[in-house]
Amino acid sequence: MKILVTGGLGFIGSHTVVALLEKGYDVCIIDNLSNSSIDVLEGIAKITQKIPQFFNFDLRNQEKVEAFFKEHHDLAGVIHFAASKAVGESVENPLLYYENNNNALVYMLKNISQLNQKNFIFSSSCTVYGEADTLPITEGAAIKKAESPYGNTKQIGEDIIRDTCNAVSDLKAISLRYFNPIGAHSSTEIGELPIGTPQNLVPYITQTAIGQRDELSIFGDDYPTEDGTCIRDYIHVVDLAEAHVVALERLLQSEKKASYEVFNLGTGKGSSVKEVVSAFEKVSGQELNHTIAPRRPGDVVAAYADTEKAQDVLGWQTKLTLEDALESAWKWQLKLKEADA
Ligand code: UFG
Repeated sequence: MKILVTGGLGFIGSHTVVALLEKGYDVCIIDNLSNSSIDVLEGIAKITQKIPQFFNFDLRNQEKVEAFFKEHHDLAGVIHFAASKAVGESVENPLLYYENNNNALVYMLKNISQLNQKNFIFSSSCTVYGEADTLPITEGAAIKKAESPYGNTKQIGEDIIRDTCNAVSDLKAISLRYFNPIGAHSSTEIGELPIGTPQNLVPYITQTAIGQRDELSIFGDDYPTEDGTCIRDYIHVVDLAEAHVVALERLLQSEKKASYEVFNLGTGKGSSVKEVVSAFEKVSGQELNHTIAPRRPGDVVAAYADTEKAQDVLGWQTKLTLEDALESAWKWQLKLKEADA
């Protein structure tokens, strides 16, 4: 069975491609390399001994999308990762985000009607919940007004898919709302490759520990949490990748009753920024230079997943810990340094 993975050379995409290949699926990837590297293909091949088909084009090109689907009507499913994901950049360049994240999604869904099997999985985010009223966050929690154009593209994306499922009777789709994906594959062949200065906590930590950054700024220690720093649900990217295979199989086996479903993907455990720093110091044996800085605009105080629906309905739960994820992220950073030397 052949599965299309858009953005398959990106951070979560590449780990999902590995999980699919290891399960015996054929994979083809569309990626425009805007935030990824062609070397990732080699990493995937080293881990799996398989080379997925690769197509380098931009999904904003409607003609190319149409031509691709015309040639590949035998696809059994589509996992759509390709999107822009930097919150700050989305504030500066909102149209890039609406075009890249929403126009491309529309072109994908328009053309999915050409497929014999219309199974679609969408990368969504816990950002759709904003500052949730109650914790842990269930899938039924209110969708708050988005804090950024990026967040809005995820909300709109979910709406586009829901509406399309209502209109196209044989389209089945699942949106997966990720909490905070971190870590790397245990082989250290693939991992996160942030371009420029990392905006996310864990790559900033590992780059600081390796000496690429002077110190980590902890954004605010006066939040109403036990140690004053924000709380997030950090999920190992390998667990997250596995969840995509499980969700795909749910669609393929047509077990699901509704044509559109959403699931939270998290560990269910919240960790503060200070806890992440301590856990990193423990697993890496490195003391991390850090300082307390002002709050970062747009940050919510706390977000962690209610994992019951994913457990009950998908039969999926995380297996790896925060420490496992931080250790793998550190090993990946060491490998990148070695490759650079
Ligand atoms: N943090 C720091 N210092 C840093 C980087 C982050 O203290 O240098 C803190 C943040 O303030 C936050 C926590 O670490 O409290 C996690 O921050 P990340 O940037 O790693 O992740 P976010 O929780 O901000 O990201 C999540 C989702 C994104 C989504 C975003 C929207 O993973 O997909 O929420 O706010 F875009």
